[in-house]
Formats: sequence, C-alpha cells, structure tokens
Amino acid sequence: MTDYAPTPEFTEQAVGQASLYDEAADHEAFWAARATEYVTWSQDFGTTLDWSDAPFAKWFVGGELNASYNCVDRHVEAGNGDRVALHVVGANGDDRTITYADLLREVSKAANALESLGVTKGDRVAIYMPMIPEAVIAMLACARIGAPHSVVFGGFSSDALKARIEDGEAKLVITSDGQFRKGKAMPLKEAVDRAVPGTTAGKVLVVKRTGIDVEWDDERDVWWHEVVDSASDQHEAPAHDSEHPLFILYTSGTTGKPKGILHTTGGYLTQCAYTNAVVHDVHPETDVYWCTADIGWVTGHSYIVYGPLANGATQVLFEGTPDSPHQGVFWEIVEKYKVSILYTAPTAIRTFMKWGADIPAKYDLSSIRVLGSVGEPINPEAWRWYREHIGGGSAPIVDTWWQTETGAIMNSPLPGVTTLEPGSSQRPIPGISAEILDDEGQPLTEPEQVGYLVLTKPWPSMLRGIWGDPERYKDTYWSRFGPEYYFAGDGAKYDADGNIWILGRVDDVMNVSGHRLSTAEIESALVSHPRVAEAAVVGASDETTGQAVVAFAILRQDGETGGAEGDELIQELRNHVGQQIGPIAKPRQIMIVDELPKTRSGKIMRRLLKDVAENREVGDVTTLADSSVMNLIKDGMAKPSGD
Ligand code: WT7
Repeated sequence: MTDYAPTPEFTEQAVGQASLYDEAADHEAFWAARATEYVTWSQDFGTTLDWSDAPFAKWFVGGELNASYNCVDRHVEAGNGDRVALHVVGANGDDRTITYADLLREVSKAANALESLGVTKGDRVAIYMPMIPEAVIAMLACARIGAPHSVVFGGFSSDALKARIEDGEAKLVITSDGQFRKGKAMPLKEAVDRAVPGTTAGKVLVVKRTGIDVEWDDERDVWWHEVVDSASDQHEAPAHDSEHPLFILYTSGTTGKPKGILHTTGGYLTQCAYTNAVVHDVHPETDVYWCTADIGWVTGHSYIVYGPLANGATQVLFEGTPDSPHQGVFWEIVEKYKVSILYTAPTAIRTFMKWGADIPAKYDLSSIRVLGSVGEPINPEAWRWYREHIGGGSAPIVDTWWQTETGAIMNSPLPGVTTLEPGSSQRPIPGISAEILDDEGQPLTEPEQVGYLVLTKPWPSMLRGIWGDPERYKDTYWSRFGPEYYFAGDGAKYDADGNIWILGRVDDVMNVSGHRLSTAEIESALVSHPRVAEAAVVGASDETTGQAVVAFAILRQDGETGGAEGDELIQELRNHVGQQIGPIAKPRQIMIVDELPKTRSGKIMRRLLKDVAENREVGDVTTLADSSVMNLIKDGMAKPSGD
C-alpha cells in the first residue's frame, strides 16, 4: 500500500506542527494564543470566550481590531509594501499586479468613496461582482468602515439578488457594468437594475469592466472610477469591536428561503488566518497561493480575502473559467506565476481528469508543493489523479471539510503531520472538536457505523446567527441533538484508523459542483411557473458535479394549455429556474410525471425519486409522462418502504 506520510523535509519546514494538537488541550488558551499570533489588535481582548448566552458566542471579548488594517496596512507598515498581494489574471488577457502598497491605496480610496456616498458603520452593502480586484477592494473597504458586506454570487439571478438586498436591507449595491465570460462581454448591471427598485438600496456603485452599454439612473448610479479614483488615498482604519458584524453570506437551507449567515470580526479573522497558515502551509515570503473559488462563496471570503491577506500572502486572482481560452489555462497560470499552493474543488479536478492528463503534462508544474480540496467529498480516484498529475506524485493534499456556517476549515489533515488517507478529511484540526452521533445522540465509537457529524465546542469563526432570525438559528443547528452539539447536517463515519469520512448531506440540501442548493428553493421556483402544479427535486449522483439537480413535475390540468410542450416546455421550465435562482440551479433533467410518490402523511418520498433519478434505465428521458419513469415510480411505491 502506498504510504502518504509527509516527507521529513516537508515536516521540517511546515507551519503547522504536531505540537499544536497538544497545545489545543486547553481550548481557550489555545485560541487566545492564535488570536495574538495571527491578528493585530488595537485594543487587547479580555475574556477569550463568552458562551453564557449559548448558542450566541462572543469571542475575544472587549478586543478591538480592524480586519482591513490586518489584511493590508500592517504588511505595508512592516516594510512589505512592495510584496505582490494579487497577481490578477484577467479573462481578457489584461493582467495586473497589485502590491500591498497598491492595495492599501485602493482600499483607502474605496473606503473614502463609500463614506462620501453616505455609508456608515453598521450599514449593509451588497456586492454583486465578477472576480475582479475591485471586488476584493470593495470587501476590504466595507470591513474598514465597519459596514457588513453581503456578497451575492454573480451567477445568481436578479430575483435572488433582490431577495438578498431586501433581507439584509442593504443601503448600497456595488457591481460592474458587465463581466467577461469565455472571452465575451456579458451584462451584469442589468440584473441590479431589475433588483434594486423598491428596495432599501439608494445607490449603485458601478465598476467599468467591459465597457458594454448600460442603462443609467443619474440619481442613483455612480461610476467607481469617478468617485473612487478621485478620493484621497489616506484613510485611518478605525477600531471595531471583536464582535462587530463583518459580513452576511446567504446559503441554502431546507426551506425555500436562503439563510443569511452572520460572521463577526475577531474570531473569524483569527481562524481564517490560522487555518490558512497551518493547513495550506502558507509561507508568505516565498509562496504563491491560488484559491480558485469565486468570492461569491465562503471559500472566496475566507481563503482569498481574509485568511491569505491577513497572512500577507501573494496570490493569484483569476477572473476566468478553467476552459477559457483553452483547457490548459490553469496550468499555464501555475507555470507562469510559479504557484506553489493550489486550492480547488473536486468537481474541477474531475473535469480535468476527463479532459486528460496530457493537458497538464504540457506545463511545468514543479512549483506546486501543496494541494487543497474543498466543497464536497473527493473520491479517492480523483485524489490520486490530483496528486499524480498536478502534485508531481508528492504534494500533500489537504481535504478540508467546513461550511459557510463554520467560517473556516474544521476538519483537515495538517500537511506536515498527517499521513494522508485519500477521500477523507480525516480529523478536526487543532482547536476543533467533532464527534459522530447516532440517531439517539450517542457518540459512535465503532468504525463504519454511519451517523451525524456534530461539533462539540464553540470555535472562533463560528456563525453568530442567521440574519434577522435567531429562532431559525437555534432550530437549525442547536436543537437536533440538544444545545451542546452543533449539528452540521452531514452524515459521517469513522474508519478503522479513526479518520472521519463525510458521506454527504442528510437534509434536503444538494451539493452541485461544491455549491449548496436547496431542493425546496428549486421546487418553489418550478411551481411559480404557471404550467406546474407540483414539483419534487432531488440531488442525483453525477460523475462530474458530485450531485446534479433532477426534478419531477406534475403539470396543471386546469387553466393554461396550448403553450410549449415536450422538450420545449422542459427547456422553458429549466430557464424559468435559471431566472428565478440562477443558472447553477437549472435542473439537469426534468421529468414530467402524473403523480409523485408520497407517504401516507403526504411527504414526498425523495429517496425513491433519487433512485429513479439515478437509475440507468431512465437515461436521459425527459419527455412527457414517460411511461418508464412512471413505471419506476410505481414499482418503487409498490415496494414496502420504511418511510
Ligand atoms: C457543505 C458546506 C466549505 C466551503 C465550500 C462549501 C460539503 C464541504 C467538504 C469536504 C466533504 C464537504 C459538506 C458541507 N463539504 N467540504 N472536504 N468533504 N464534504 O460550503 O456551501 O457551506 O457547503 O459542503 O456537505 O456541509 P457550503
């Protein structure tokens, strides 16, 4: 058997050493030490953790800091202003280099501009932008003045954006005229124009990225280059309370309404910086780090913006997609910038596998020394391919399990310590405690028994709640097994070596390409179409994307007829979901059926639909009332069911 133990050379230079596990025996002292090691405080904190109002935690109580100062100013003050912060790789061949000194000027100007637009501490700012440096600058400018940002993924629809602006009561929206997609300029502001009317957002700040035509409202719209470029590049970063809200980020839950996950400043920054250092093994003086996530997801927040910048790292910021202008673009970037740490998602790795190992083989990838994976379980085959063809057969792979809610990495190997087990995120990192519980809430001790992953101690970057909905926060995370266990929503098991294997969501949440989607949200999008009476959505396993959205729909018998039929109707329904939520939510397949299998209490039997959706016999059938689909459903209903 191949032994994936770290080499002595790697261990010797590793930031994260085995002693951290021992040190973490004293939970609070451990985190207090990390907060001092990784963060510069304007005012020292007193109590490390106040859990008296559980499940609402306060970390580093009384401490004051500025996240933007920590990510930018202090590196310039330390004499590292000339260090590259961002190697910006544009989608249009227009690369830029931004040093920490440049970043300080840009963030200061943007902070001054936001203030001139009336944004003050506590106001929420929605950010709806492509992967351009102004997105990072906007986030840091918000953090600087204490205005929590709410980044909305640029692939979400204008309806989804509107719902998020409304829920967070954002005062300002920052966007761009358009964005480059596979070399083409596509509109973006257009969606903002449709989302903003009737909301609290009185101003829209617009970066000119593509130069495409946009509608303009003189009262409301402001060009970034007009207000930011002319603003002063001096801005004093004020100190904010450790528990001051840093951002809201929406994620899908089990109902149709996304949850605004709230993160605060001191604890979040501490855990992001610490994990980026010890898990990714970032040496800021020498490494070139590249996280390929979009800033619209938590991975972009924690491992492009806050973690690596707090550590003063040099990173690549890529605006494009893995297949444009060609399928070797990732490896071209690795070669050109000598990327040494690459953090990406299993779905991307499986896509590269499909494209073939001869593509990365054309490039010099010898700079790579650490690889990371995030977003969903990585199958061992993809893990081995990644190690072999990207990691030169020797780079450690850190499979990092965490969530929007956890804010930062929770389970992962430490690359200089852990003997790796392909497919498993292995153990809680030092400072984190997890267990697997059975249905009755008893901790599992035997390998291969399947249970629920829970976290047993508060951690600094934990969510502080769901924006505007404290009851939902308690119900969702702290009630399944009682108030002392955080219920993560993932099934898990131990193997014989004590490694934790994550088995996927146990709730009605799907994971498509590492992105969380709710079945209920897509169902309600489908039934909002006039032709649909009822819909059920399941996540069916998919070779590339992990899971894919498969929908079953019953058409209305009353009212409208004579519209599109067959494939045309299915296309119309897919597009409708795209418009309601965003292209990522479009079902891979929609099957029109006469009935849906239900339990006696009327609950849709999703497990059965999942079987149907994954059944090869069904193939690509998407046609009207296809008899083979119905037969499968009926067969399944005839079988005795435990439900
Ligand atoms: C869910 C969280 C973590 C940032 C990106 C996704 C799944 C995440 C792993 C992993 C197995 C994983 C879980 C988790 N997940 N990382 N390494 N191994 N599963 O954040 O959208 O909040 O989704 O993603 O199911 O609960 P998210």
